[in-house]
Amino acid sequence: MNIILLGPPGAGKGTQAARLVEHHGMRQLSTGEMLRAAVAARTPVGIKAAEVMARGELVSDEIVSALIDAELVAMGPATGAIFDGYPRTVAQAEQLDAILAGHDRKLDHVIELLVDEDALVERITGRFSCSSCGEGYHDTHKLPQTPGVCDKCGSTEFARRKDDNEETVRTRMAEYRKKTAPILPFYDARGIVTRVDGMADIGAVTDEVEGVLAQGA
Ligand code: AP5
Ligand code: MG
Repeated sequence: MNIILLGPPGAGKGTQAARLVEHHGMRQLSTGEMLRAAVAARTPVGIKAAEVMARGELVSDEIVSALIDAELVAMGPATGAIFDGYPRTVAQAEQLDAILAGHDRKLDHVIELLVDEDALVERITGRFSCSSCGEGYHDTHKLPQTPGVCDKCGSTEFARRKDDNEETVRTRMAEYRKKTAPILPFYDARGIVTRVDGMADIGAVTDEVEGVLAQGA
């Protein structure tokens, strides 16, 4: 199965994708994570993307679509894909169609996480993750069970994203409204979009997403 998790910054795409990976053995394809890895490794793509990301703007369609294609090449055909933060423009949605066709895959579901934008700034500015295993946390909604120790791997090192400050978040949201929201009609026309209440508890959102997956391909 191949699904897209769609929603503005902080909607919970990464949180839900991680749960689907755990429950179904699917693969999370997050262009944001791929780009952050490229920035950290100072690859040519990372050097190009770093400033754009720090401003909260979108990296070029060609760069992100090439990253997605390369990941699908590396993945076995039997592993399902969860697209997290991709596609983000109508051009990327068209490129994804071509990429999927090239891998004998088809898009089964687009899940839009419906959220209240005002609450998202608080979600994002409170977010941090384990530097070692990447497990996500939040200052108020999800703290490690033992303070300062990762629940999953025991590491005591945590990190915050550079673009998780209020000013950049506002730009990221404006980019979403202007460039990403217009891809919804593209998928609505195919009847594959399901809308889920992204303001519910994390577990309740997962239950709704699981319900969509249970509908099958
Ligand atoms: P990216 O990494 O994709 O960031 P984003 O879309 O801004 O989304 P986030 O990762 O911030 O939010 P999320 O929806 O994953 O929420 P999360 O689950 O963490 O992209 C970063 C940048 O890379 C872009 O700005 C752009 O520059 C570039 N880029 C990436 N892809 C690109 C593309 N395709 N094209 C061009 N450029 C691209 O949750 C947030 C917090 O809320 C967490 O702390 C979590 O614990 C908490 N939370 C989650 N769900 C709930 C809930 N239900 N209730 C309470 N708290 C919750
Ligand atoms: Mg994310």
